[in-house]
Amino acid sequence: MTKQFECIKIEKDAGITWLILNRPEKRNAMSPTLHFEMNEALGELALDEETKVLIITGAGEAFSAGQDIKLYFRETENDPVKKAAAQQASNNWRWHKLVHFPKPTIAMINGYCFGGAFTQVCAVDIAIAADEATFGLSEVNWGVIPGGIVSWNIAELLNHRDAMFYAMTGLPFDGKKAAEIKLVNYSVPLAQLREETMKIAKVLLDKNPAVLRATKEAVRTVRGMTHDQAQQYLAAKLTALTATDKDKGMQKGMNQFLDDKSYRPGFGAFKN
Ligand code: ACO
Repeated sequence: MTKQFECIKIEKDAGITWLILNRPEKRNAMSPTLHFEMNEALGELALDEETKVLIITGAGEAFSAGQDIKLYFRETENDPVKKAAAQQASNNWRWHKLVHFPKPTIAMINGYCFGGAFTQVCAVDIAIAADEATFGLSEVNWGVIPGGIVSWNIAELLNHRDAMFYAMTGLPFDGKKAAEIKLVNYSVPLAQLREETMKIAKVLLDKNPAVLRATKEAVRTVRGMTHDQAQQYLAAKLTALTATDKDKGMQKGMNQFLDDKSYRPGFGAFKN
């Protein structure tokens, strides 16, 4: 049975696992308890055989209103131990655990997405938003910088002009604008968001999981490399993949294209 949590919810459906921030009455603001639970859940889901694709979203009308200003900031102000524990859990799941999650990750941004919630949007492999979602680097509005790791996230993912504009003005923007500046892959009307996200999750479910894992690791890792380093690393990575892939994906793919002529690699996945 799937474990019950206080601030998050896990739902599993035929290989797709929904990891839901579940404080709708607080617009899914991220409290220390929520961070501890997400940290624990992501550790378990990484090893969970039923989880082939992970979708992160928020319950109710928000994706996440960012860090809980009361519970994460004010109530830890005079408690350095609690503050450090909350910060560590917060950075761990929103960045390290998501970036290194061994299966594909999708963020489905269904509504409000402010401040610290940008980190998980930047960390996942694919992000899809509702046209009607509201994004904002609102930190500047109440007197802090985009901290945690948000300034680094937006400097890395966004164009410098957009990162600076939204961090300095704190102006909110919608899902269409988030797609235009490539904070998310694309946006669709809210009424179609779940169906569209499921469609992409099913595309990923069709692929060989070892290849997917190696692909996400490769694309992320080469970003910090020179051309020559990347060439060497990718050659080694492909050798490691073909040696360890128990499904022998590459051989099957080649056989089905070249011998059986049963499929076209340009249009989809081979039969695993
Ligand atoms: N921290 C703590 N509580 C929050 C947060 C938050 N980030 N966001 C919403 N809540 C709480 C509200 O205090 C309120 O609680 P209450 O019902 O006990 O009074 C409840 O959630 C609902 O919020 P409302 O403001 O009443 O809802 P509304 O739909 O009108 O507005 C909105 C939603 C726009 C998200 C607004 O709550 C807001 O501006 N929140 C702060 C967003 C923000 O700036 N986040 C960045 C935080 S800084 C960081 O992440 C580093």
